[in-house]
Amino acid sequence: TFSPRVFSGIQPSGDLHLGNYLGAIRRFVPLQETHETIYCVVDMHAITVWQEPDALRRATREVAAAFIAAGIDPKRSIIFNQSQVGQHAELAWVFNCIARIGWMNRMTQFKDKAGKNSENVSLGLLAYPSLMAADILLYKATGVPVGDDQKQHLELTRDIAAKFNNDYAAAIAERGLGEEDGQFFPMTEPLIAGPATRIMSLRDGSKKMSKSDPSDQSRISLLDDADAIAKKIKKATTDPAELPSGIEGLAGRPEADNLVGIYAALSDRSKAEVLAEFGGAGWGRFKPALADLAVAVLAPMNGEMRRLLDDPATIDAVLRDGAERAGAIAEKTMAAVRDIVGF
Ligand code: ADP
Ligand code: NA
Repeated sequence: TFSPRVFSGIQPSGDLHLGNYLGAIRRFVPLQETHETIYCVVDMHAITVWQEPDALRRATREVAAAFIAAGIDPKRSIIFNQSQVGQHAELAWVFNCIARIGWMNRMTQFKDKAGKNSENVSLGLLAYPSLMAADILLYKATGVPVGDDQKQHLELTRDIAAKFNNDYAAAIAERGLGEEDGQFFPMTEPLIAGPATRIMSLRDGSKKMSKSDPSDQSRISLLDDADAIAKKIKKATTDPAELPSGIEGLAGRPEADNLVGIYAALSDRSKAEVLAEFGGAGWGRFKPALADLAVAVLAPMNGEMRRLLDDPATIDAVLRDGAERAGAIAEKTMAAVRDIVGF
């Protein structure tokens, strides 16, 4: 059987934000207790859209610093960047030949990112989910902690794994390389849970908070200081009504739902518990309480991230050590894949 192993990645494609923290990074930490954990800075994913080389290098160190500052222990977990383990690109190519173009065309993230300009985006943007499948399956990961926006990509990862297992069933069996039920790759599950699986923009409650939207200044960055965090929360778009006393009252109120969800996630409570405390309160009471909470949670991490970023040699050493450990696992999988495929 496949041993419990977790893989997840974050793109070094701009400012890390509260959505990345609550939907992903924060949830990476406790998994260290129960799983073998591998956390990756996915720089090859980032270049599916243009990145200035120096900005990419800086953002790569920033994501690594955020991992460590959030409580991921580089000894217990593997922390590395994708481009340093060549097997990611190699397996992605094999998967490009397994996956169908129609599967890629159906991905909503591709449609969102390509917009009306889908003939003039990079081929890599279309193939993005195939590289993501390679990231996960190189380590035969059984679980991937991600935000809700990645659910469809995880389904595609399972489709690719299933087609590979099936297309090459004879070769896998002949070599005795099947694990559970003769399967070479596991059916990886997304680990999506809690009140913060999709944090929305503080400016527009219909859009997710995202690194990739440079026009949205409302995003709370993990490098924001206390003042900036408080200002952004104060300015967050809301409706005029007071907070409801139960979660049914959040229906049809996306901005209120979002802010209550953020409060719940930051305080490790449910939205119902938060509303039990704040039901009937106006924004003039709730927003300052949310700002204080956000600062209390994010400020220590912010300080640790800055300290680490002043010492890039330490970050680079963590990434080098991680790449060596990841590479050993990746090469074992890739050697078997080469043999199965007939290389
Ligand atoms: P982004 O979408 O900001 O460019 P990535 O694609 O690198 O970030 O995603 C990194 C992780 O952060 C993924 O697990 C993704 O699901 C999660 N994530 C991104 N945005 C949000 C959000 N607004 N709410 C919750 N999780 C998010
Ligand atoms: Na994303």
